[in-house]
Amino acid sequence: MGASDLAVLVKQAADIVDVIGRVVTLRRAGHRHVGLCPFHQEKTPSFHVDPETQFFHCFGCGQGGDVVTFVMKHQNLSFGDALRHLADRYHVVLPEASATTGVAAEASRKEREALFRVVEAGAEFFYGQLHHSPAGRTARDYLKQRGIAEHVVEAERMGYAPDRWNGLLHHLENAGFDTGLAEKVGLLSRGARDRVYDRFRHRLIFPIRDDQNRVVAFGGRSLPRENGVETRPTGAARGEEPKYLNSPENPLYHKGRMLYQLSRAREACRNHRQVLLVEGYLDLLAFHNHGFYRVVATLGTALTPHQARLLARMSDEVVLAYDGDEAGEKAMLRALPLFMEEELTVSCIRFPAGMDPDDYLRAHGMEGLERLVSGREDLGRYAIDRVLERWDGSTGGKSRIVSELRPILRSVRQPVLKAEYVRMVAGRLSVPEGAVQEQVGGGEGRRPTVQAPPRRALQARVEQPGSLEESIVRLMIHYPGLIDEVERSGAVEHFSDTKVKTLAELLLKSPHPPSGAFSAPAVFQQLEDPDLRGLLTRFMMESADLADVETHLSDWLGALCQLKPRRSRLCALSEALDRAQRDGDMVEVKTLLGQIQSLHSAKKKGRRSTPNH
Ligand code: GTP
Ligand code: MN
Repeated sequence: MGASDLAVLVKQAADIVDVIGRVVTLRRAGHRHVGLCPFHQEKTPSFHVDPETQFFHCFGCGQGGDVVTFVMKHQNLSFGDALRHLADRYHVVLPEASATTGVAAEASRKEREALFRVVEAGAEFFYGQLHHSPAGRTARDYLKQRGIAEHVVEAERMGYAPDRWNGLLHHLENAGFDTGLAEKVGLLSRGARDRVYDRFRHRLIFPIRDDQNRVVAFGGRSLPRENGVETRPTGAARGEEPKYLNSPENPLYHKGRMLYQLSRAREACRNHRQVLLVEGYLDLLAFHNHGFYRVVATLGTALTPHQARLLARMSDEVVLAYDGDEAGEKAMLRALPLFMEEELTVSCIRFPAGMDPDDYLRAHGMEGLERLVSGREDLGRYAIDRVLERWDGSTGGKSRIVSELRPILRSVRQPVLKAEYVRMVAGRLSVPEGAVQEQVGGGEGRRPTVQAPPRRALQARVEQPGSLEESIVRLMIHYPGLIDEVERSGAVEHFSDTKVKTLAELLLKSPHPPSGAFSAPAVFQQLEDPDLRGLLTRFMMESADLADVETHLSDWLGALCQLKPRRSRLCALSEALDRAQRDGDMVEVKTLLGQIQSLHSAKKKGRRSTPNH
């Protein structure tokens, strides 16, 4: 593993908001988090952290960067030491102590690649079995019966694990795979007397993919046996097979740090930053059936703080859609503080008793589900309601209820939200708000609060247009599809600000649509100069409205190409004029004056021909 591989892993594991949030008090402001800049003295927060791009930027001192740059600056560490520091804190497993270079690193990178290959081979085997083996028919029938559409089965490359102890084992051996690796990723298990056998048998297979859409694990659902009897509900009695069997954690797969269908959902959340969270693989695929992709599922465990943070990065609101039973409700209520911690808006929808999202979608379709979503309830209120329902109406009971509400109320970080909850509780119990507040205690959790800057002031700062050149570079970053047009115009050549120009030239050279994807982090990596880095992060943070861009881009480019040459020609002429006058060259002076004159009149003519708006 090279330093850059390690950097990728570290950046995946270490969320910038989490890292910075430990040393800077941050408050949520729209999609961003803001706080007082740790790199210069300030009284109003101009330090922004963007969970989506994973960059920070201070509009006060102009410094900006990614999570590694932050740690380097803040702790005064070298790049390598900052990486190791983060790897250590976020449990990024380094193969060896000397992992950033050397033979061991290379070996471990090779091993990871080999692990990916064996998982992929497993996925292909299961997929083939589903479609081409006679036994796969049970699974195909089951999918049909569950109403999973063909396009979903194909897009997911779902599979079937045959009812044998050595189906996959033999397949992998014949294909020349090291079965030790297959064991390492949990495709094979080792039993008594070191007998190695298939982990998944007679199961419907759900491939589980990581952030980069690579298969890293499998979920396996039991299927009906010959006799038509399905294996039984979760928590099956001893001897019976569990309904679901999943890959164990392995070097590629950490179930608490991933979510089923995360990358698909993240893409879908670009346009609408709201995501649904469900508990079952089949519940999730029921949404895909209906062409709805803003949904993720946990991987057979309760929600973890890490997962809540992943969701906070890609969305502004999470809607929990857990099963309509007591277990589902309990699980939702347990997730509440995790979202409060992220200051993420969280709501829930409830299904009629005994129904899960899959059942509901089958009964009422996507429109029915969308109706539930539009009637969603704030999860904090929902939780408070559940406690208030237990109030027996007595005066003594009031105090008990408020005590029960204490953990919920104390976990709320946003002062406005907290005030609203307190008002709700006080109203329902008919006690003064102050009394509720007092009993709950002021504790703001572990972070002290800082007054958030007024929203408008923030926006004004973020939307400041700056110069024409800056506007063009800002939109190259926000809309890389337009970089080609900028290049064709030749406008960058005429840029006068050397830093802005350097950045623009780098953008022209970096991969971008239509030939490739644009990556701001990759551009950032190529910048050494802190000023340039700050410039890039500033442009990333500043907004660029597409409506604005489309109408203005060609004007901007045109203006630069026409005005700049004239202006610089004028400059040159007047310099020459100064020289000629100093030298007393009257002929030259006369010629130059003539040229300057005609340039001026050309400009006036140009102005007359473009009507004023
Ligand atoms: P169906 O019951 O077939 O509709 O599947 P489901 O996906 O709706 O499953 P269910 O609601 O019973 O469970 C939700 C999730 O919990 C599943 O998708 C699994 O991730 C997990 N799960 C359920 N049962 C088991 C089990 O027996 N073992 C393990 N490890 N996980 C389970
Ligand atoms: Mn279900």
